[in-house]
Amino acid sequence: MRVVLIAVALFCAIVSTTVVDSCLPTDLAALKAVKASLTESKLGLFNTWSGTDCCLNWYGVSCDPSTRRVVDINLRGESEDPILSKSGQSGFMSGSIAPEICNLDSLTTLVLADWKGITGNIPQCLTFLSSLRVLDLIGNKISGVIPADIGKLKMLRVLNLADNQISGQIPASMINLAGLMHLDLRNNRLSGEIPAGFSKLQMLSRALLSGNQLTGSVPESIGNMPRLADLDLSRNQISGSIPDSLGKMRVLSTLNLDGNSISGQLPSALLSNHGLGILNLSRNSIGGNIPDVFHGNSYFMALDLSYNNLKGAIPRTLSSAKYIGHLDLSHNHLCGNIPVGDPFDHLEEPSFANNDCLCGNPLKTC
Ligand SMILES: *[C@@H]1O[C@H](CO)[C@@H](O)[C@H](O)[C@H]1NC(C)=O
Repeated sequence: MRVVLIAVALFCAIVSTTVVDSCLPTDLAALKAVKASLTESKLGLFNTWSGTDCCLNWYGVSCDPSTRRVVDINLRGESEDPILSKSGQSGFMSGSIAPEICNLDSLTTLVLADWKGITGNIPQCLTFLSSLRVLDLIGNKISGVIPADIGKLKMLRVLNLADNQISGQIPASMINLAGLMHLDLRNNRLSGEIPAGFSKLQMLSRALLSGNQLTGSVPESIGNMPRLADLDLSRNQISGSIPDSLGKMRVLSTLNLDGNSISGQLPSALLSNHGLGILNLSRNSIGGNIPDVFHGNSYFMALDLSYNNLKGAIPRTLSSAKYIGHLDLSHNHLCGNIPVGDPFDHLEEPSFANNDCLCGNPLKTC
């Protein structure tokens, strides 16, 4: 009897050491379903997704070493990827994201980026992946809507859905993503307004929403977002005026509102904000004078106010700026002498073209 028990115990021990060469069966099944619904033939990445240990040498899959649960899926079709940069190729993947991916309930990172051909919807069940920190699906052909309850992803730091065909509104629940640092929804088909309470995203440093069909105005409360450094709302249908509050933002360094229907006047505080290095307000309906509030700490890599309804003179203080790399005041109704001084020396005629009656270097004299 005892001998039999020992023999059984030994047999079990041997079996279990061989069985360790498998990842959790539910993770394995989920990844197999993901593989089955995607096609990538150029590089054959999915050839490495074979056998039963999905934690071992499955391209782009990583597990937590202690739990042996799948925590990362990281597949990029562009050259940042080591395999692709070596071959100088750009990847292509088609198919869609199988909803079984939602069974990977330890997943913290899901990157399926720049494959150009992935279609279908974002599985709505992704919002059950409560550990998810990074969701990056940039550069595909994903359509449908952003899951309405995206705000459930309390750990989310990075949400990048740019360069797809996503429609519908930015879900109201998004304002509950309290830890979100990077939001990139550029170049989709999103409509509706920027959600009320957007400024609750107090950790957000980049909000990139350009190239959609967003309407409504720039919320005044955006000025209360302490970490927002880069706000890009360009090429939408945003109207109303630029809130004064944007001029008080301490870390805002890039503001792109070009290609909208913004009216009203230029807030003085915005133009005198030290940190703002790139300001593009081109192709709107902004009127009034350019406030004469520049100073020795004004430092603009780019200041583009072209294609608006600005009138009056170019402010004299602009010539006291420390640096102006690129200035475009063309296609307005400006008049009078172009200031002289260091920041203007390198500027050429196109910076001032198509105004009412500007004169002086580099245009004709008066
Ligand atoms: C500003 O935006 C306009 C219109 O979208 C674009 O054509 C222009 O190149 C931008 N200016 C700069 C300096 O990037």
